[in-house]
Amino acid sequence: MKALLLAGGKGTRLQPLTYKLPKPMVPIVGRPLLERIILNLKSSGIEEVVISTCYKSQYIKNYFKEGQDLGVKIHYVSEATPLGTGGAIKNAEKFFDDTFVVLNSDIVSDVNYRDLIEYHRSKNAIATISMTSVDNPSQYGVIEFDKDNYIKSFKEKPKPGETDSHWINAGVYVFEPEIFGEIPGKKVVSVERDTYPALLQKGYKMAAYQFYGYWLDIGTLEKYTKAHKDVLSGKCNFCRFSDKIKESGDRVIVEKGAEVHPQAEIIGPVYIGENAVVKSGARVGPYTVIGNNSIVSENSKVIGSILWDNVIVSEGAEVVSSVVVSDCCIDSNSRIFHTAYTNDVYTEGLQLI
Ligand code: GDD
Ligand code: MG
Repeated sequence: MKALLLAGGKGTRLQPLTYKLPKPMVPIVGRPLLERIILNLKSSGIEEVVISTCYKSQYIKNYFKEGQDLGVKIHYVSEATPLGTGGAIKNAEKFFDDTFVVLNSDIVSDVNYRDLIEYHRSKNAIATISMTSVDNPSQYGVIEFDKDNYIKSFKEKPKPGETDSHWINAGVYVFEPEIFGEIPGKKVVSVERDTYPALLQKGYKMAAYQFYGYWLDIGTLEKYTKAHKDVLSGKCNFCRFSDKIKESGDRVIVEKGAEVHPQAEIIGPVYIGENAVVKSGARVGPYTVIGNNSIVSENSKVIGSILWDNVIVSEGAEVVSSVVVSDCCIDSNSRIFHTAYTNDVYTEGLQLI
């Protein structure tokens, strides 16, 4: 089976993190989100994926190339101007002639693809949409379904009072290739606003898969930091860290090549990426990610924060409840609090711990 990854969104709500890279490439605990999604697909037996790109498409292609480093086969379809989710699916038609999986690329979740596909096969539907239940569904696609779990209505970002359902589209689908015949080509189409309601109107069967495990979209800074807290504390297994954690239960993950000085203080949960260095007298954690090749210098503190790759925290500096993007240097003895920090611009008001 193959999967289509919708990865063309701009990620405006994640700025300033997405100034230099597209939303699906923001790191989730040391690796791009899209990479973690592809690795999870691979471990479910899906080893061929098509990535639908638009905003900063070259960034994605340069990173994954044809998938050789991850041991999967990757194809690309790119849009010069955004075609919407439906238009992007239609654009990838030539790659799919059998049942296939489609994913939004801004979701951190433990959805079990094998279960979902098996469920889809049992429902004899043109599409199966996985659903999760949320307290406030207004920013999502909201689904009503019958007692046999066939969808009755799909309302994208409904107005208050339009529906009582708290079951929302989790952005993970299984489609039959017949769906391509129901999406017009060469125009902007939203699969959520146009295609799903049209399929229901025409009497197609669409199945609803109720998912009860961990699910979060990382579309805003608050949710991006929450996803990290949940992954680090073990609330979700999206990053598959369970086999890297020592039996003592101390959630400290140190990747290969990393150097932690014996006189550094590490308070889990903490992730220290490949070839990162934590020097003497530094304090790291709790709820902290030190990205690959990053350096935490003598007597500095990194608490409740996410450092991307190649970050330098200079001597005596303090980084608290913040995200620092790749290649930034935090000056000696300076303090960064509750901030999404890039070299050019920063946004205050973050809350990780
Ligand atoms: N190629 C391409 N072209 N991809 C796109 C385009 C486009 O024009 N527009 C959006 N995407 C990709 C985004 O990169 C993202 O991975 C996915 O499609 C969904 O777009 P978002 O912009 O993240 O949509 P949303 O968060 O407002 O709503 C969607 O996700 C919710 C769950 O998080 C909808 O699918 C909702 O129904 C759903 O509940
Ligand atoms: Mg989204």
